[in-house]
Amino acid sequence: MTKKRILSGMRPTGKLHLGNLYGALKNWVDLQNRGDYDCYYFVADWHALTSDYGDTEEIQAYRFDMVIDWLSAGLDPEKSTFFVQSSIKEHAELFLLLGMITPLAWLERNPTYKEMKAELAGKDLSTFGFLGYPVLQAADIIMYKAHGVPVGVDQLPHVELTREIARRFNFLYKDIFPIPEPLLTDFPKLLGIDGRKMSKSYENSIYISDQGDILAKKVAAMFTDPQRMRKKDSGRPELCNVFTFHQIYSLFQEADRIADACRKAEIGCTDCKKQLADRIAAAMKPIHDRRDYYLQHQDEVREIINSGNARATRIAKLTMEEVREAIRI
Ligand code: TRP
Ligand code: SF4
Repeated sequence: MTKKRILSGMRPTGKLHLGNLYGALKNWVDLQNRGDYDCYYFVADWHALTSDYGDTEEIQAYRFDMVIDWLSAGLDPEKSTFFVQSSIKEHAELFLLLGMITPLAWLERNPTYKEMKAELAGKDLSTFGFLGYPVLQAADIIMYKAHGVPVGVDQLPHVELTREIARRFNFLYKDIFPIPEPLLTDFPKLLGIDGRKMSKSYENSIYISDQGDILAKKVAAMFTDPQRMRKKDSGRPELCNVFTFHQIYSLFQEADRIADACRKAEIGCTDCKKQLADRIAAAMKPIHDRRDYYLQHQDEVREIINSGNARATRIAKLTMEEVREAIRI
């Protein structure tokens, strides 16, 4: 019996940070290691173009580095398939065909579309490609007849649209696509070092690749409880981003002890952060070791991508044969 498939992707628009590691990658690794799914993870480089079409210089570098981050985080090419969207031209064909059956109103009412257009007001996003973002995403997902799509809540509207588009295809032509389920990652959002959402554009991220001094400096710069000015003031760990990180990186009792000492003004923020920096460095050590390995063995990474592309292409070709036959084109 063939296993059910899981598929997810990320846009190569920057280095991956700890928010990506805990919000997505760890979940991908868990699903891979559970062994009851066949996992496909891909670099959505065409999707990067939908918003960054005018600024393409770094996409290739990010694409490669992203795969290195995946490998470092524990994704295993023996168990999961990695591929690059733009290498599988079938995605473009399916995107075009799904475009024929997707009502404009579905795309125009997409909340992510409206939000991103407002948020990125400096860019002209009144393009066909940007409006069609979810159609391309639907093509990515149903190409592999995925049953599960591990994503964060921000992607729910897109997965919902994929479900509607798949249903419409099945209804109009032939019932060939499973209706995919979103597999939500329920990990609290990690804030950046300035207390805002961790995001490349705010320059407040701790990157997976940050090691040694860079990592220590970023932790030292983290915002704490804003009302705690001096060590003798008692602190409120529940309002402190440093403490949120301790809850992830320090053992349960240790985090409890820190909270207690903070409330009683027995520990200063500088020491608290030093402890955290050590914890993060220790937890990230195996990830950084793998990163260093792959940076020195880039041919291996290229080989992993090539063989993943070949595997994905085989499936995409089979699906497209079925699709063309169903549509009679
Ligand atoms: N839209 C996703 C994001 O921004 C990336 C993506 C593209 C994706 N195609 C996908 C995710 C298919 C899951 C499945 O994170
Ligand atoms: Fe935050 Fe630690 Fe300072 Fe308390 S001691 S406010 S938890 S940094």
